Amino acid sequence: MRSVDPNKLKSGSNDTSQKGKGLDTRLAPTRAMVLCPLLRSSAPKPAATPRPVSLARQPANEGRAEHARLAEAVGLAHAIDLNIVSSGVILVARPRPGTLFGKGKVEELKGIIAAEAVELVVIDHPLAPVQQRNLERAWKAKVLDRTGLILEIFGERAHTREGRLQVELAHLIYQKSRLVRSWTHLERQRGGVGFLGGPGETQIEADRRALQEKIVRIRRELDQVKRTRALHREGRKRVPYPTVALVGYTNAGKSTLFNALTGAGVEAKDQLFATLDPTMREVSFTQGTKAIVSDTVGFISNLPTSLIAAFRATLEEVVEADLILHVRDISSDETEAQRRDVEQVLEELGVETTQDDARVAEVWNKIDLLDPEDAVEVNNMAARKGALCVSAVTGAGIDVLRAAIEDKLNEQAKLVTLTLGPAEGALMSWLHDNAHVLSSQTDDKGLTTVQLRISPEKLERFNHRRGGTPVAAA
Ligand code: GTP
Repeated sequence: MRSVDPNKLKSGSNDTSQKGKGLDTRLAPTRAMVLCPLLRSSAPKPAATPRPVSLARQPANEGRAEHARLAEAVGLAHAIDLNIVSSGVILVARPRPGTLFGKGKVEELKGIIAAEAVELVVIDHPLAPVQQRNLERAWKAKVLDRTGLILEIFGERAHTREGRLQVELAHLIYQKSRLVRSWTHLERQRGGVGFLGGPGETQIEADRRALQEKIVRIRRELDQVKRTRALHREGRKRVPYPTVALVGYTNAGKSTLFNALTGAGVEAKDQLFATLDPTMREVSFTQGTKAIVSDTVGFISNLPTSLIAAFRATLEEVVEADLILHVRDISSDETEAQRRDVEQVLEELGVETTQDDARVAEVWNKIDLLDPEDAVEVNNMAARKGALCVSAVTGAGIDVLRAAIEDKLNEQAKLVTLTLGPAEGALMSWLHDNAHVLSSQTDDKGLTTVQLRISPEKLERFNHRRGGTPVAAA
């Protein structure tokens, strides 16, 4: 058990029972303990000291050093201003279905929890509802698993209506999945008795129905917000501006870079998930190219799928962007593992992250934190990989980055003017779906002249569909 110096951690107020409702700052700071279970079954064989492992359902964690995992879990807990009085990595030789940890460990921890007056235990691992309940009962403290904690953070950080709706939806989906599981558990307990439709089941059924009704209502509200957003996006498409989305692991420096690129006053905090709602701003580049740049929610390892789904609306800005800048904290020991996590989320969203996809470019941030020798090596590596090194704080490399963004956007989208006949309605709608149509005018013979911005690859597909003399970019 390793302790973290509580003086180095900010203490604050928290009421973790108020999921998604924000925190009540009148309450005293919650005394918390953070535990990082290390499952022996997946640890490398002969190890004197526990090594990083990938937990069965969390392949993105592979290669993640144990101290870094613990530091990240502490950072997550810190994000909701808990007063962390103790934290540590716990080796789990054999995960118990009822309590995750073995009996002896549960007892040992019980002693520490009582001595330290811990009110909340954060366990950086997925917990089954029954495990959570049993541990809460044994320790007389509230227990949160990783998803529960992330939901708390998201609940606190969501500022816009859309953000709040998405967090609420994620909460409900999470709660519902847990109800289902505990229901199944109850059913199994009653299996031999041949007892159906008891009061417990009826209550759980009713809870499930109530949750489902809320889910439907929130989805409907969210759809409405999404439609408004889609209309805005359509509006932007008519403006001849391509879009650039900043993505990256939480705390990589996206908001700081966003500010450096756009001059906007977006809150940049040394705090996880300071940005939950997408922030957008129009930027003019040196050669006159304009673009809409958007800052998005920070990614994190083991982001539960239900959360990704709930934030899909926000992340649509990413999926639809003309250029995706993957901002990396190159000074972090975990930079490679974080890259894999981000790429995994992007792939789940349907974005190709292979090096030959011209739509994604890596920006290696925080080079000011490297020592001079490492900086030279990192710069060489970046040059080989086509990444750009910057410091969003000192401004180093920002001008080069701006020029590179402008070049990429220009080489991507070509300005094209073409005329379509009255029978080419299907092609016209294809263009509306696949290009930024800037203007469209139909004469009295039914010939429509459109001006649009289109990527070379899409222009080729258009020419292929249409046949005849290919249209060339202006
Ligand atoms: P999320 O909202 O969690 O996704 O974070 P983010 O990626 O937007 O990070 P943010 O811009 O809030 O920066 C996180 C911390 O890193 C802040 O303390 C920044 O001041 C710091 N930071 C960002 N860029 C740099 C950099 O180039 N150099 C240094 N030294 N610090 C940086």
